[in-house]
Amino acid sequence: MSSITQPVGGHGHGHDEHAHHPTGIMRWVTTTNHKDIGTLYLWFSFTMFIVGGIMALTIRAELFEPGMQILAPERFNQMTTLHGLIMIFGALMPGAVGFANWMIPMQIGAPDMAFARMNNWSFWLLPPAAILLVLSLFVPGGAAETGWTLYPPLSIQSGMGMDLTIFAIHIMGASSIMGSINIITTILNLRAPGMTLMKMPVFCWAWLITAYLLIAVMPVLAGAVTMLLTDRHFGTSFFNAAGGGDPVLFQHVFWFFGHPEVYIIILPAFGIISEVIPAFSRKPVFGYASMVYALSAIAILSFLVWAHHMFTTGLPAAGILFYMYATMLIAVPTGVKVFNWLATMWKGSISLEAPMMFALGFLFLFTTGGFTGLILAIQPVDVQFQDTYYVVAHFHYVMVAGTLFAFFAGIYYWLPKWSGKMYNETVAQWHFWLSFIFFNVTFFPMHFLGLAGMPRRVPDYAQQFTDWNQVATIGAFGFGLSQLVFLYAVVSAIRSGKPAPAKPWDGATSLEWTLPSPAPYHSFETPPVVK
Ligand code: CU
Repeated sequence: MSSITQPVGGHGHGHDEHAHHPTGIMRWVTTTNHKDIGTLYLWFSFTMFIVGGIMALTIRAELFEPGMQILAPERFNQMTTLHGLIMIFGALMPGAVGFANWMIPMQIGAPDMAFARMNNWSFWLLPPAAILLVLSLFVPGGAAETGWTLYPPLSIQSGMGMDLTIFAIHIMGASSIMGSINIITTILNLRAPGMTLMKMPVFCWAWLITAYLLIAVMPVLAGAVTMLLTDRHFGTSFFNAAGGGDPVLFQHVFWFFGHPEVYIIILPAFGIISEVIPAFSRKPVFGYASMVYALSAIAILSFLVWAHHMFTTGLPAAGILFYMYATMLIAVPTGVKVFNWLATMWKGSISLEAPMMFALGFLFLFTTGGFTGLILAIQPVDVQFQDTYYVVAHFHYVMVAGTLFAFFAGIYYWLPKWSGKMYNETVAQWHFWLSFIFFNVTFFPMHFLGLAGMPRRVPDYAQQFTDWNQVATIGAFGFGLSQLVFLYAVVSAIRSGKPAPAKPWDGATSLEWTLPSPAPYHSFETPPVVK
């Protein structure tokens, strides 16, 4: 366990950071401090959010009118692939790991993450992977045109952009697995005296469970893309029908990863919401134990439902019924969580600062995405909606208004503790309302487009879809520009915000709020005792 002992100099007091730590760029390259690494993850996530967002805007610009405008069809498909991969593996997952790095040690009273050097390596694997993904646009044949799901036979036939994508996925998977090992080890071994598992903040529970999910499914994705690689270059036929393989097998393997993956993206968001709503309701979270059990139940069920992504592949009737009912069952633990959040607010002393506004936005819109998920789980309905914009609307309600809104809630909530500065409430409220309105302007019409039969992943469309596409495109550009307000809110807070008190939110009670703002570089050199 020597890796948890930081070279702090001295004997616990009067550290001279500069005598032992590099400064400037080398501080960030060589850092083993969980706060530095959390900051790196969060800025990386924001950068990828911008890159993936620009790709989304090129897609929406092309779809502003029927016919072909600015993108060649193959470029349109490449934008679709990279937008998905970059948002999932570059923006949402690293963002969640950034929160984990900052908050888990501070919430359980640990000095740092358990494997501090591996933590550095987990982060620094990500930029090369992101570069490979973006680079794939510029190689002969361009990026993969398969969408983020990489289905064969197209993914077997396409050019070297696919190989760069496979390599990037391997690297990002390794990063995720190392991050997960670190999170699990930290939570199981480095809790302060008295911090029993069932006293941990729900955010730590959400990440503990997410880390197990990651370790279970990232190797499955690695296996899937490795088989793809050998099919492409080494003469195997795992997914190649011409050689006796089965392209549908890829879908099974991919979605055995892919469905738990959506919970990997949403559970840390649930964790953040479970911190923010109690703080701004001045009440402890309602039904703590049931929140933990609901997280576990969602995680276990997530392994049993993957073929609901394959309802049109000719499953046997018994399979259709099983996957349909198993999928619907997930609404039960998810409902437990939503009702517990509502019960937390019930008769609370509620205030509506930006973190709470984003949490409430999350609650409304994530639940909408949950309901359309329930509709898509009905197999006869899914057969009609498969590959339409209804599906696009559904998962953007879950990923954007779900996870991204939870990230915004968490950033405004913890920024005072991270930076020692308060953000400007008026600017943050503008950010919330602009995001909330433009998000719905972008994605709500996609339900109508899907119901009317507009297919996804196609750069052209029939005349009758024009109006709602134009509304969606205007909304998308509005949503994109609204994020400049977010950037301004964060940067102006860090540069010139008012100094934050140790406890800026009077309802917040977990361990990190016992520290001054900003939290010291080494938060708990002497572990606190939790009663
Ligand atoms: Cu699924």
